[in-house]
Amino acid sequence: MGSIHGLVFVLSLQFFVSNVYCLHRSQFKPNFLFGTATSSYQIEGAYLEGNRGLSNWDVFTHTQGKIRDGSNGDIADDNYHRYLEDIELMTKLGVNSYRFSISWSRILPKGRFGNVNMWGISFYNKVIDAILERGIKPFVTINHFDIPQELLDRYGAWLSAEIRKDFGYFAEVCFKAFGDRVKYWTTLNEPNLVTKFSYLSGKYPPGRCSYPFGNCTFGNSSLEPYIVAHNMILSHATAVEIYRKYYQEKQGGTIGIVIAAKWYEPLRNITADILAVKRALDFDQHWFLDPILFGDYPSEMRQILGPNLPTFTSDEKNLLKAKLDFIGINQYTTTYAKDCIHSSCAIDSYEGNAYVFTTGESNGNLIGTPTGLAGYYAVPWGIEKVVMHMKERYNNTPMYISENGYSQASNSSMTAADFVNDIERINFIHDYLTYLNSAIRKGADVRGYFVWTLIDNFEWFFGYTLRFGLHHVDFKTQERTPRLSAKWYSNFLKGSKIAK
Ligand code: NOJ
Repeated sequence: MGSIHGLVFVLSLQFFVSNVYCLHRSQFKPNFLFGTATSSYQIEGAYLEGNRGLSNWDVFTHTQGKIRDGSNGDIADDNYHRYLEDIELMTKLGVNSYRFSISWSRILPKGRFGNVNMWGISFYNKVIDAILERGIKPFVTINHFDIPQELLDRYGAWLSAEIRKDFGYFAEVCFKAFGDRVKYWTTLNEPNLVTKFSYLSGKYPPGRCSYPFGNCTFGNSSLEPYIVAHNMILSHATAVEIYRKYYQEKQGGTIGIVIAAKWYEPLRNITADILAVKRALDFDQHWFLDPILFGDYPSEMRQILGPNLPTFTSDEKNLLKAKLDFIGINQYTTTYAKDCIHSSCAIDSYEGNAYVFTTGESNGNLIGTPTGLAGYYAVPWGIEKVVMHMKERYNNTPMYISENGYSQASNSSMTAADFVNDIERINFIHDYLTYLNSAIRKGADVRGYFVWTLIDNFEWFFGYTLRFGLHHVDFKTQERTPRLSAKWYSNFLKGSKIAK
């Protein structure tokens, strides 16, 4: 090979390698949002301060036996007092956005049956102003699992159509108070998971079980998850309607919803399992997104559930159509799906009504590397599949990866060094971002990515036994220590090459 040809070859190889195989910030648009995510109950603490009302999670965690390590979010990361310190961590990371949620019971301790709590408004004003001063855009979840206990006590919260009024009212209080500065809103976080965990397996408050699953203490009607979903979908639509009618034009923001979007692969390369994947998606993600975008539930859900699936009136169908500006996607894992119509399966997974059995194993091989959370495998290619599927089904509606992250399980023999040397988390984020970028190259309109999470925090029924943070938190001293992954993320955001 002549020397010129050789040089051209080496240069093009270098170009190929650095642009295809090496993840780099410049592969994403400059205005792509890169951030970290948290939620109010998981980090704030101060559960009785500033006039805050009790939430469903306060009451649930204070009930013996509900949380694995017997803990609660009374103090959590004490972020209510340390928010500036946490914002400093974000500034060091170099993120341009922060996803956080607003505690409903801090703003409306008694829902719409009481006053707006100005202490609560002032807390979030301080957070919003402080991040904006540092060039970090707020990406706000109106409701991330925690609701005023008052709404449960009065009328059963999500089980009642009453909640649509309360949610609309709460959302409007937020638009009014913060919408001059907040340009990214999401209504509900992972409603498709709340329905199942709160009303099927009983792992989230109010801990109701409607299926012989988990440690159910009483059997309720198996229809509860569908009623709850119906009310959540219409609550979302109510909030978006209010935003679009009275605030959107004036304030110039966008609004969406956040869905838990696990991917499913057919266990066997046979039609029955390929159809099982479709049913699993219908009963999980399409269950919420089809009504919000197309005005009704997936037809296969109707076929299977018949009159047991609630119906939308024609007014509601009209209200629903195209009721979001973007889809928020929480993407962590992928499992296999196996048909349970033609072959019998042990129905021990929540996909029961879809007649699908999910598993991480095929012929003794795991689908991906196990993470700290049982049943959650690291499967980087799954994020590309989810995004491409959403692109096709929902006509390339803009998407944000509102959560993606890696959990380490704590155990008492771990040293401080074990906690901060999180190479697995670096590999996880690197590989998921690489596949996300591949979907973007194929035309998917993805506009942002948020790592779950900024700091270790209260992980719902796992309490403090699972750690997802880019920063380690010592819950005795509240000291925050950056993990290797925090340094890696910040190098990536600064544009360093070959960041893995
Ligand atoms: C999704 C939820 O939105 C968040 O609250 C939770 O901590 C993470 N997944 C990790 O499980």
